[in-house]
Amino acid sequence: MTTIRVPLGERSYAVHLGAGLRRRVAELLPASHTARGRRFLLAADTAVPESFSSAVAKSLSEAGARAVDAVQVPSGEASKCVAVLAALWDAAAAARLDRGDVMVAIGGGVAGDVVGFAAATYMRGIAFVQMPTTVLAMVDSSVGGKTGINLDAGKNLVGAVHQPIAVIADTDALATLPIGEHRSGLAEVVKAAVLADAELFARLAAEPAALLDARSAALATAMARAIGIKADVVSRDEHERGERAVLNLGHTIGHALEAELGYGTIRHGEAVAVGMIAEGHIATALGTGWTAEDQRALEALLRAIGLPIAVALPEGPDPVIARTALDKKARGGEVRYALPHRIGHATPGHPVPAEAARAALRRVALP
Ligand SMILES: NC(=O)c1ccc[n+]([C@@H]2O[C@H](COP(=O)([O-])OP(=O)(O)OC[C@H]3O[C@@H](n4cnc5c(N)ncnc54)[C@H](O)[C@@H]3O)[C@@H](O)[C@H]2O)c1
Ligand SMILES: [Zn+2]
Repeated sequence: MTTIRVPLGERSYAVHLGAGLRRRVAELLPASHTARGRRFLLAADTAVPESFSSAVAKSLSEAGARAVDAVQVPSGEASKCVAVLAALWDAAAAARLDRGDVMVAIGGGVAGDVVGFAAATYMRGIAFVQMPTTVLAMVDSSVGGKTGINLDAGKNLVGAVHQPIAVIADTDALATLPIGEHRSGLAEVVKAAVLADAELFARLAAEPAALLDARSAALATAMARAIGIKADVVSRDEHERGERAVLNLGHTIGHALEAELGYGTIRHGEAVAVGMIAEGHIATALGTGWTAEDQRALEALLRAIGLPIAVALPEGPDPVIARTALDKKARGGEVRYALPHRIGHATPGHPVPAEAARAALRRVALP
């Protein structure tokens, strides 16, 4: 097991990553939360095997806490909605959870976001634990405290920053994760390497195939490092006043591609992969220092993992560019990009002329 601290003053917490941790939940939680009689509401994605949640419940009840019946969060992005949120609030009230009790999110980023938001709002905020079961959730969404749901008008439009009391990532969960989801999550690991760690990038490039093996040491080590990078950035800028926006690398174009092509058509990590390639072209054009050689290395790594580096854009680049302006990170209509300078270093806040974005999108458009 590897433990990474997220230092945030009195809201600091640990991220534990390793095999079999579902059976050790009670010992990994801060002792104040496992006192006798504490209630834990388990809320799990329906795609996670039942045996996973029951192992969590067993660990808690053996420690004297009370695991309340698992609430099901239906698989899929549509669960980040008011109806699922209300079901979680109702389940918490029915189980008579109070301010000393705990919600546990078991699943990918969807379960983490909606259950986290339920915990942020029930009784004006109770403790919650993230138990991520996808690569993406382990390295990205479970760390940093962003929670929320979607509206018809857009993704993640309602939410709160509410840090978990712990993140417990049992890598055994990845054994049942579909390979496409696994690959997609690796895009965020590559992103972390590009923005902060050239050595991690070199390690990923040295054995890309091992990253696809849920049980490999290479995957666990890479995920731990990616978590460390996110933890660092978040601890310096919890509320995204500046630096945290660097985590958006690949995402300004990536989010626009997801929205334009239709959610469900392209996975998040696939869109981020193409987004990183397009933003690499932008960085080179703007003279950040990102070279053709950096770009080739990034393309080679993404390809070796099985992630796309180009996408069909039947309507051309303009509708995608129009979508970037709707990005909720756009301030006063001006889109700011996180851009790479070299492998291992990126910075946020770059204004990008539409012409540069257009040229970059033409280069990632499949003929
Ligand atoms: N809060 C944040 O900081 C943050 C950061 C990045 C992404 N997100 C959000 O995360 C979500 C994406 O997360 P995701 O990629 O984990 O998607 P997801 O939660 O939808 O999970 C992907 C798929 O895998 C299934 N699944 C999950 N765990 C499984 C397991 N162990 N075995 C088998 N199937 C399993 C799910 O049912 C789903 O079909 C988006 O809603 C995004 O907005 C949030
Ligand atoms: Zn992402």
